[in-house]
Amino acid sequence: MTPEPLPLAKPVIGEEEERLVLEVLRSGQLSLGPMGRRFEEEFAAWLGVDDAVSTNSGTTALHLGVRANGWGPGDEVIVTPFTFVASANSLLYEGVKPVFADIDPVTLNLDPAAAEAAIGENTAGILPVDIFGYSAAWPEFERIAEARGLGLLEDSAQAIGAIDEEGRKAGTRGHLSIFAFYANKQMTTGEGGMIIPRNPAEAERLRSERNQGRAVDMNWLDHDRLGFNYRLSDVAAAIGVAQVAKLDRILADRAAAAAIYAEHLGGIEGVKLPSPDQGMARRSWFVYTVQLPEGTDRDAVIHRLAEVGIPAKAYLPAIHTLPQFAEFGYRDGMFPVAEGVAARSMALPFYGDLSEADATRVAGALETALRG
Ligand SMILES: Cc1ncc(COP(=O)(O)O)c(C=O)c1O
Repeated sequence: MTPEPLPLAKPVIGEEEERLVLEVLRSGQLSLGPMGRRFEEEFAAWLGVDDAVSTNSGTTALHLGVRANGWGPGDEVIVTPFTFVASANSLLYEGVKPVFADIDPVTLNLDPAAAEAAIGENTAGILPVDIFGYSAAWPEFERIAEARGLGLLEDSAQAIGAIDEEGRKAGTRGHLSIFAFYANKQMTTGEGGMIIPRNPAEAERLRSERNQGRAVDMNWLDHDRLGFNYRLSDVAAAIGVAQVAKLDRILADRAAAAAIYAEHLGGIEGVKLPSPDQGMARRSWFVYTVQLPEGTDRDAVIHRLAEVGIPAKAYLPAIHTLPQFAEFGYRDGMFPVAEGVAARSMALPFYGDLSEADATRVAGALETALRG
């Protein structure tokens, strides 16, 4: 008999989330109420920044970030092909051309040298992603952006709590940054996102754009600019307030789970584990992805794991050959590091209370599956 399947991911939801959601439901104020503001304030305080503007997804936060940087038609922005598709889609929403550049084979983040080499006369900025919760090479990107007069947008959707090589938390370096709270993320609001503004005027504009172009003191049918409905509901914000309160514990539990995995998976021949932290950097554990040995039939491995109740997923694909980027002429073979890593990467079940027994089971099954 197959044992109970393991989950691929698991949110940490408890009584505090229930209590705060009920509070919102009973208050009758399900949107634009005090819980929304409280979530922003408590999130900003946790992160150590002056302000944070909530949105209804990480994708919508990215879209507002692209606009806030003033990127538009005729501009090019450099982005990694080894990311979730929303990072680059957000550029297309504003008519910006995504210019992909290859990744670092160790951190799997955009390679600053490749990014610099991709700069052309229409380049307006760089959109690095802290992939798998590991901070991109921010000091380098800041140097390049400063020297070339470019804007930066940080996609920290996977990296809440990550510490970069200079010991600074993702989202606190003073450029625009976004976070995402889909249900598989370290902290969740079900759906949701956050954008970290650079100054109060920018915060005001972001709050207006996410709310149909209304200024803070405006009536419902007054609008002083183009806007969107990117508001987070207060029910979702209530979950967020409870999640922020226990975020340190969530992150610590996930780091402990990753350490358990490293111990059990470390001995499997040819399987490459997530890169260890370099210097002062600390990964925020979003997913646990391994790279399978060259030439492995990954689909077959995933199928064999599924048969014994272990969900695994090819993760992430390189995105540059997706149809929405076809007009720019990207082809297989253009970004060999990203393509190679994408072809071998696989996400394993991962959650904060992963036990020694779970890790033993996954490791045993993976070894068997790799033998074919
Ligand atoms: C790197 C990255 N960027 C953006 C997003 C988009 O976030 P959302 O799903 O909340 O729109 C995700 C979500 O998985 C992501 O992983």
